[in-house]
Amino acid sequence: MKKHKNNSNTGLNRREFILKTTLVGAGLSMGSLALAAVHRDHVTNTEKKTSGGMQNGKRKLGPLEVYPIGIGCMNAAWGFGEPMPKKDAVRLFRSAADYGQNFFDTAEAYGAWLSEEMVGEALAPIRKDVIIATKFGFAINQEGNITGLNSRPEHIRKATEGSLRRLKTDYVDLLYQHRVDPEVPIEEVAGTVQDLIREGKVRAFGLSGVGAATIRRAHAVQTVSAVQNEYSVWTRDPEGEVIAVCEELGIGLVPWSPLGKGYLTGTVAPDSTFSEKDRRSTMPRFTQQAMQANWEVIELLQKVGARHQATGMPATPGQVNLAWLLARKPFIVPIPGTTKLAHLQENMKAAHIQLTAADMQEIESGLASITIVGERAAEGVLQLLDIGNRGDRSSEGTHGLSPLPAGKIN
Ligand SMILES: NC(=O)c1ccc[n+]([C@@H]2O[C@H](COP(=O)([O-])OP(=O)(O)OC[C@H]3O[C@@H](n4cnc5c(N)ncnc54)[C@H](OP(=O)(O)O)[C@@H]3O)[C@@H](O)[C@H]2O)c1
Repeated sequence: MKKHKNNSNTGLNRREFILKTTLVGAGLSMGSLALAAVHRDHVTNTEKKTSGGMQNGKRKLGPLEVYPIGIGCMNAAWGFGEPMPKKDAVRLFRSAADYGQNFFDTAEAYGAWLSEEMVGEALAPIRKDVIIATKFGFAINQEGNITGLNSRPEHIRKATEGSLRRLKTDYVDLLYQHRVDPEVPIEEVAGTVQDLIREGKVRAFGLSGVGAATIRRAHAVQTVSAVQNEYSVWTRDPEGEVIAVCEELGIGLVPWSPLGKGYLTGTVAPDSTFSEKDRRSTMPRFTQQAMQANWEVIELLQKVGARHQATGMPATPGQVNLAWLLARKPFIVPIPGTTKLAHLQENMKAAHIQLTAADMQEIESGLASITIVGERAAEGVLQLLDIGNRGDRSSEGTHGLSPLPAGKIN
C-alpha cells in the first residue's frame, strides 16, 4: 500500500493536512469526518462480500440507492413522549447525514407536519445528497389531529404539495400511501402518484401497511418501489406473503419499528411504565407482564451478539436484530427511529455485522421455542392494516382492503 508523506509540523500526511484545513474552514471537526469516512469504507467492504448487496455499500429501492439502514424521523416529532425541540432535531438529522446516512423516513401525519418540517429544515442545504421518503393517506384537521383516512386523488395532490413545502424541496424521492383507504380503489391512488411522477414531483411510489393483493394491483398501474410494513424478530408478519411478492416483483421492503419500538435493544426495562404521550402505553406487548415474558428474546440476541464485534464491543441486541433483517433478503432496508446521534451511529454500524448461517439458525430455533406475549399494537390500529399484512390472514383470493374500480368484478 502506498504510504503518504507526513506533514512534519502536524503529524498528518498531505491528504489529511489538506482535508483538515478545509474542514476547519467549514467549521467541521476532523474527528467526526474521519469517523464517518472509516464508517463508510467499512460498510462498502462489508457489502461487497454480501451476495445481492450493492457494490457501493448501498441497497436499492427501485431507482433509489440508500444506506442499508435508514433513520425513522417520526420519533423526533411524535410517538415516544414529548417532541424534541426543533433545533435539536434539525441538528440530529444534519449530523446523521454528515455521518453517512442518506435515507430519511417521515410522513405528514407525524406530529402532524412537525417531523416533515424538521427534516426539511435539516436537509434543505444538502437536498441532492439525501433520499427523503414521506407519506400521505390520512385526513388531518387544522389542529393537526388525524380524523380518518383519505387517499382521494385531489387529497393526495394537496397533501403532496404540503409535504413539498414543509420539506423545502420540489421533489419527494419516495412517496408512500400510509394506509390503504377502503373508499378509494388502489388503481386510482397509483394513477395519481404516477401523474406526480410524470410531473417530476415524485421519484418513486411506495405502499405501507399492505398485503400482497393490494401490492399486485397497485404495481400493475405504477411500479411500486418499496413496501413499508412492520418487521423484526418478534413481528414476522411479512413472511406470510409480502416478502415473496416483493421478491417476485423486484420491490424493496422497508421494515418499520425494526427495533420493536425500542424493546429489542434490551434497554427497555421490563418494569417500565409509559406516559400517555408514549404510544407504547396502548400496546399489549408493552404491559409489564408481556415485557417480562418476552425477555427471552433479548437473551437470545445477546448470546448471538457476544460473538460479533461491530464496534470493538459485543454487538448489542438491537444491532443483532438489524443485522438479522439485512441478512434475510438483500432488498430489505430497516428504518430504526431515534432521537439520539449515538443510537443512530450504533444502529448504522449494524450494517457491518455479517451473521453466519449458524447464527441465523440459532436465532430461528431460539425464536421457535419462544411464544411472544401480547399483540404488537392496539386492536384499533391493527384494523387499519390491509388484508395479508397480518400474518394470520392471507390476501389470496381477495382484492385486499381497497375497493375494486367501478365496473370491475373480482
Ligand atoms: N409506515 C408506518 O405506518 C410506520 C409505523 C411506525 C413507524 N414508522 C417509521 O418507522 C420508524 C421506526 O419505527 P419506531 O420508531 O416505531 O420503532 P423502532 O425503530 O423499532 O424503535 C424506536 C425506539 O427505539 C429506541 N432506540 C433506537 N435506537 C436505539 C439504540 N441504538 N439503543 C437503544 N434504544 C434505541 C428509540 O429511542 P431513542 O430515541 O432514545 O433512540 C425509540 O424509543 C419511525 O421513525 C417511522 O419513520 C412507520
